[in-house]
Amino acid sequence: MSDPHAICTDFSAHFALRPRILVRAPGRVNLIGEHTDYNEGFVLPMAIDRATYVAARGRPDQTIRIYSSQFAQEDQFSLHGIERHPNSTWPNYVRGVIKGLLARDLPMIGADLLISSDVPIGSGLSSSAALEVAVGYALQVLNNINLLGEELALLAQGAENSFVGVQCGIMDQFVAALGRANHALLIDCRDLSYRPIPISPDVRVIVCDSGVHHDLADSAYNERRATCNTAVRLLKTRIPRLSALRDLRPADLESHADLLPPDVYMRVRHVVTENQRTLDAAAALEQADLATFGQLMNESHRSMRDDYAISTPEIDLLCDLAHAVPGCYGSRLTGGGFGGSTVSLVTLSAVEAFTQQVAQGYQAQTGREPTILVCRPSEGVGRLM
Ligand code: GLA
Repeated sequence: MSDPHAICTDFSAHFALRPRILVRAPGRVNLIGEHTDYNEGFVLPMAIDRATYVAARGRPDQTIRIYSSQFAQEDQFSLHGIERHPNSTWPNYVRGVIKGLLARDLPMIGADLLISSDVPIGSGLSSSAALEVAVGYALQVLNNINLLGEELALLAQGAENSFVGVQCGIMDQFVAALGRANHALLIDCRDLSYRPIPISPDVRVIVCDSGVHHDLADSAYNERRATCNTAVRLLKTRIPRLSALRDLRPADLESHADLLPPDVYMRVRHVVTENQRTLDAAAALEQADLATFGQLMNESHRSMRDDYAISTPEIDLLCDLAHAVPGCYGSRLTGGGFGGSTVSLVTLSAVEAFTQQVAQGYQAQTGREPTILVCRPSEGVGRLM
């Protein structure tokens, strides 16, 4: 549900009072730069016009009550001693963020929160970051706390790392907090500097959700991250200045390849080449050179499939189907991988043909219907009321 009026009515139905504020935080799609954020590299995501909404009102006590419209479930806890929810995942995103705020010694009151979202879960569109950032922002407003966008993003990432247990990088939370309408953000994940890059109004960014999400995706993600850390440790024995894979030049990788087991070498090669592709793609987008941008997307996909080994047959099929549509500049897996979605850049006049052909082809070959979203680059977190 994304109608502000309906969300507020729903809040009143649950908590018997009107909400005081309504906050919106968007999902995101990454155009290029995958698994580079936790290697202190570059990413190029955009916030999308699908979002998580939090209607909220302060309480005079120290209790937090939450109702999730999506799950039709409630959660309630005290601000004193927040623990992990024993058997449900979504409350942990909220609990983790609030615990993070408390850890900063910020005085906080209790609150009633109603959460509603139209970011599909498990599609690689960062429904979790949208939730974390929306909740963090809402509590910040209720408690007159003033965090910068970067700080809010770090707080949200910290919640996911330590409370939910996914060792994600900063990309999703950063763009949920600081996304810009009609732009993608080129983010340097080392120093968190960023540059908004306009997306031409003549193209659309299309997300195709494969409908396949692997249960082990989170642990496989953590495993990739651990492999990158191992690679840094091994390479450091000969390149002492190396503090993250971001520092590794392609030539360095080739001269020290003997230090790495073959699969580790391939993972590192993805990261090193993906960083360069992301910078090149941002430059191409800035010059509205969409053909080059599309080629880099395609190369990125091959690298994720062959070197980083995070694609699936369904995702590869979606990319192949996209490549066959005239007017599609490029297509690739987006997000953490092991299922989820592809992102494609498509010229405006080809959007309808793209949607039809990809949907038909996918259904014919897998028996599944993909969910296809034509996304608009949207604004980061903000208050609607
Ligand atoms: C997930 C993580 C991000 C990033 C991507 C891969 O979305 O949350 O931090 O690592 O995967 O690029």
